[in-house]
Amino acid sequence: MAILVTGAAGFIGMHAAHALLARGEEVIGVDSLNDYYDPALKQARLARLQAASGFTFLPIDIANRDAVAGLAARFPTIDRILHLAAQAGVRYSLENPFAYVDSNLVGQVTIMELARRLAARPDGLRGLVYASSSSVYGANRDLPYAVEQATDSPVSFYGATKKAGEILVQSYAHLYGVPATGLRFFTVYGPWGRPDMSPWLFTSAIIEGRPIKVFNNGRMKRDFTYIDDIVAGVLAALDHPPAADDGPPHRVYNLGNHRPVNLLDYIAVIERACQKKAVLDLHPMQPGDVLETYADIDASARDLGFAPTTAIEEGIPRFVDWYKSYFNV
Ligand SMILES: NC(=O)c1ccc[n+]([C@@H]2O[C@H](COP(=O)([O-])OP(=O)(O)OC[C@H]3O[C@@H](n4cnc5c(N)ncnc54)[C@H](O)[C@@H]3O)[C@@H](O)[C@H]2O)c1
Repeated sequence: MAILVTGAAGFIGMHAAHALLARGEEVIGVDSLNDYYDPALKQARLARLQAASGFTFLPIDIANRDAVAGLAARFPTIDRILHLAAQAGVRYSLENPFAYVDSNLVGQVTIMELARRLAARPDGLRGLVYASSSSVYGANRDLPYAVEQATDSPVSFYGATKKAGEILVQSYAHLYGVPATGLRFFTVYGPWGRPDMSPWLFTSAIIEGRPIKVFNNGRMKRDFTYIDDIVAGVLAALDHPPAADDGPPHRVYNLGNHRPVNLLDYIAVIERACQKKAVLDLHPMQPGDVLETYADIDASARDLGFAPTTAIEEGIPRFVDWYKSYFNV
């Protein structure tokens, strides 16, 4: 049997696919390899996956209905879907909302349609696991964020599309019994990370002696979650699809580190890893940003055995080491 991983050339997708291949699974990876950030990094991640046996890659845009629908006939052994492809990034959603509509709304539905078709086969679909985001909590003030909280007041368009993705999946779980698990990731970082996120932006600026942009004058907190902890949660979600007991077979979980860190303390950890001081360029709060993220992980611990162990003092140096070797600095 095989698992379809969308966004396989992305940061989390590559790591999750790598872990699945390492435990002997057959992985079919799809990705559009778009240029939201340098496609060379996506190609380098893919090369890592292509070195393992059991990996097949298809350059597909998930907004393309026919291409996604065709996967069911082409790969009849798919019994699970890990759907991570999306237009990510809070700030870019102010500039290019239609990129989010195409990948996160249209693309979400093409994947749900594929899941519905696969679930209708005699041997069914074991589960659809898909990425949501801590951004769905918007400006909620009750911390830590718990999955039961209302999430109908997003403060970014990105967050709105991720919340919409959850609601769309709920309807398919109800109508067609598609077993689905949504994972709300909290600021994921680590080797092979994303160039638009602060670990990368800060590390590159510190190494090159450029100032780093610090929003809200540094008065922010983030629940930074190390990639290996996230991958453990993703695999556990794939291995524990929800049952249709007293409602549609759809669950949503937080995957966060459960230890929010002050932005300035986090910058100090990057400075130590780079062995160089940062030059701070202080800015006011940005539209779409939130002051603090903090995951309540009681439900993911209970149902998925999720237990993140990596503090930023351990994870950030691993990212900086990777960054230096990737760029040969
Ligand atoms: N990294 C985080 O901190 C974080 C936090 C919350 C949620 N998420 C979610 O996790 C998932 C993975 O994020 P990531 O950090 O790995 O991002 P990423 O941008 O590195 O990976 C996403 C991948 O999806 C691909 N993609 C985008 N649109 C596509 C389309 N229409 N068709 C096919 N492929 C497409 C991209 O090329 C990219 O390789 C996303 O759904 C994202 O919204 C990430």
